[in-house]
Amino acid sequence: MINALKGMKDLLDKDAYYYEKVIKTCEEVVKNYGFSFINIPHLELCTLFKRSVGESSDIVGKEMYEFIDKGQNHVCMRPEGTAGVVRAYIEKKMDKNNTIKRWFYHGSMFRYERPQKGRLREFHQFGVESFGNASVYEDASIILMLVEIFSRLDIKFKLLINSLGCSECMPKYREKLIRFLDSKEGFCEDCLRRKSLNPIRVLDCKNKCCQKLLTNAPLLNQNLCSSCQKDFEILQTILKENNVNFEIDPKLVRGLDYYSKTAFEFISDEIGAKAAIAGGGRYDKLIEYLDGKSGFGVGFAMGIERIIAILEQKEEKLQREGIYLCSMDEKYITNLLKLATQLRKKHKVILSYEAKKLAKHLELADKNKNLIFLCMGENEAKNESLFYKNLNSKKEEQILIKDLENVL
Ligand code: HAM
Repeated sequence: MINALKGMKDLLDKDAYYYEKVIKTCEEVVKNYGFSFINIPHLELCTLFKRSVGESSDIVGKEMYEFIDKGQNHVCMRPEGTAGVVRAYIEKKMDKNNTIKRWFYHGSMFRYERPQKGRLREFHQFGVESFGNASVYEDASIILMLVEIFSRLDIKFKLLINSLGCSECMPKYREKLIRFLDSKEGFCEDCLRRKSLNPIRVLDCKNKCCQKLLTNAPLLNQNLCSSCQKDFEILQTILKENNVNFEIDPKLVRGLDYYSKTAFEFISDEIGAKAAIAGGGRYDKLIEYLDGKSGFGVGFAMGIERIIAILEQKEEKLQREGIYLCSMDEKYITNLLKLATQLRKKHKVILSYEAKKLAKHLELADKNKNLIFLCMGENEAKNESLFYKNLNSKKEEQILIKDLENVL
């Protein structure tokens, strides 16, 4: 018996229904904000993620699916989408004149994590990346876009925001933080590794002892330069003016190394304690890290499985749809196939190839969540009609095939 790998899941039935619903909702919203579809490869050179997501991140440090391919390239299954989209932007030379581009993407990401509820090794993200805009209004629009998506999906959230500073204020803050960290002893191994690679990542360590040691640590949002401070204030004003509740979390640094200025996370309590359902921020330096001309980028990604888990808890009643077409006698099935082909030009039709009793067919149509039930028996065949039942209203009647369109 061959099973799916640990942490990898088939999406079918209800999961698949919600998957399509989430993607459709996200697409509708982001297209109204000017985003268009981009599809990037699942496999990239390892270096891409080492230089973007960063050596201090758990993703690069522990979780990449990496291997040497037959051409001796050190490759990796993408753990996230941003790095690949930035690579595409640079590869198409759009960085040269700071082209404004707004892209969205969705698909599988791979992280070798310890699987648990809401945490998979292959999971799906819906993400957007916006290039060429330095304005904090773009950051705000991206957050508002997510708010709109969650409102359409009827998902409650807590929004956390922070500013991670820029190349002017961040290095000074980093030195201050390193001095503070050097004055303390007892950090976990991960923190010691992060301290030398990217010290701000120590701030969001989940280890209780580390958090205690960090009690009086200097905070980023109190060490911003005037430009970052101004942008952070504008962001807050826009959110307030749009009635979006948020909390400033001065220890929110995100698990990926490429962020500067705006960082945000959407949290939900509906699938276990404080699960992040979406996260993102600004990454102006990333284009340069990947050998492009310096520019501007901001985006987010949402974890689709986590959204599906919330929607499934709400147990939305699946809507009935389509026609169930059947017969109680095999000899009519050839004719019914002809009818189904005609109806399928406009309608979804499930044709049963097997003759069964009426009650059995009705049971199957109900299980399939079909809306219209059509059945041909001997009498119906004689006068070119069908037995019709609307499975929502329960209305039933004999209907002539030529009049069928009137009731569909
Ligand atoms: P991230 O925070 O690593 O950001 O992932 C975004 C979302 O993906 C998370 O909030 C979570 O919902 C979901 N997610 C992450 N790991 C897993 C997992 N193992 N299983 C299930 N869901 C998961 C990024 O990936 C950035 N690229 C976001 C971004 C785009 N920043 C700027 N542009």
